[in-house]
Amino acid sequence: MSTHSTLFSPATVGRLALPQRFVMAPMTRNRALPSLAPGPQAALYYAQRASAGLVITEATQVSDSAAGYVFTPGIYSDEQIAGWRHVTDAVHAAGGAIVVQLWHTGRISHPTMRPDGSTPVSASAIAAEGEVITYEGPKPFPVPRALETGEIADIVADFATAARNAIAAGFDGVEIHAANGYLVDQFLRDGSNRRTDAYGGSLENRARFLLEIVDATSAAIGAERVGVRISPANPFNSMSDSDPEGLTRYVASQLAGRGVMYLHVVEGPASDDPAAPRPLTAIARAAFPGVLIANSGYTVDDAERVLARGDANLVAFGVPFLATPDFVERTRVGAPLNTPDRGTFYGGDARGYVDYPFRDGSVRLSLDEVIGVGAGA
Ligand code: PHB
Repeated sequence: MSTHSTLFSPATVGRLALPQRFVMAPMTRNRALPSLAPGPQAALYYAQRASAGLVITEATQVSDSAAGYVFTPGIYSDEQIAGWRHVTDAVHAAGGAIVVQLWHTGRISHPTMRPDGSTPVSASAIAAEGEVITYEGPKPFPVPRALETGEIADIVADFATAARNAIAAGFDGVEIHAANGYLVDQFLRDGSNRRTDAYGGSLENRARFLLEIVDATSAAIGAERVGVRISPANPFNSMSDSDPEGLTRYVASQLAGRGVMYLHVVEGPASDDPAAPRPLTAIARAAFPGVLIANSGYTVDDAERVLARGDANLVAFGVPFLATPDFVERTRVGAPLNTPDRGTFYGGDARGYVDYPFRDGSVRLSLDEVIGVGAGA
């Protein structure tokens, strides 16, 4: 039997009553249809993992100019909304709850990924280092165009529209992706934001874009259905900030007054050391009395300690859920996990997507086999 008593205790998140404190972290899988609607297997993939309690989807474009990766889904067309409806129905039928992670990739993109072939946009005209994988193969990241002040409101409105679409698609809420070096994060951190208008310079100004998105999506669907993910110290995508602690404290304190569904903090590069300090999670905890989700390379033992200390309310796990659909149940009974296949993480077919076995060895390739298993088993 599991000794993870805090991890297995119930939690309330916004309007949701969750059976335990596991969350399935957002993970990009690059398997959307050419229309960038979730493909037929997406409902099966997410429903297989409904026993997570709360599932956060892969990052999903708010508009047709927000993409930066191949075959990542959107939530702006009728076909995409209909595709997501299959996903949410399946997860709900299997006893889970699901929110969609909303993103705009900003400078982590390429003109060939944009409908009009135009230069990607960012806070400032500063390129990320490295290459973007386009439909035509890898290409260097372009120097982005700094958004005009007057263009920012349109992108805020795209997030609000996407949030309304999410509710129309049956989601329990949305997560604003303000982490990992994508557009909102490009505004938050001073390594990528050198603006001199009301959206650059001070912490207040750099957080303005995020908070406008939070306020617009909250007005659209209710703050209790809006979560936010930040990663102020994650260097991924050429990101840096002169004061990640101050940024965390400011954003957490601003969200505290807004009644959002949760704050989700990616601590930084994943550490294999279970005793590694988690300074940003602790700073967020002190400034944010609402539901705090911790993330980055936690083991279940480590998660139990963080929760038992009260440093977070839930813990998000990525790869364990990717490779082990019944990760919660395996943890409960102390059963070994499946081995993740990194070669099938990004793109491809059913292999490494919906064919990871359950604990009894069964591979459940139809919704009928999955629904009814998620909630109780
Ligand atoms: C990725 O595709 O590598 C990726 C996408 C979204 C993230 C982080 C990484 O937040």
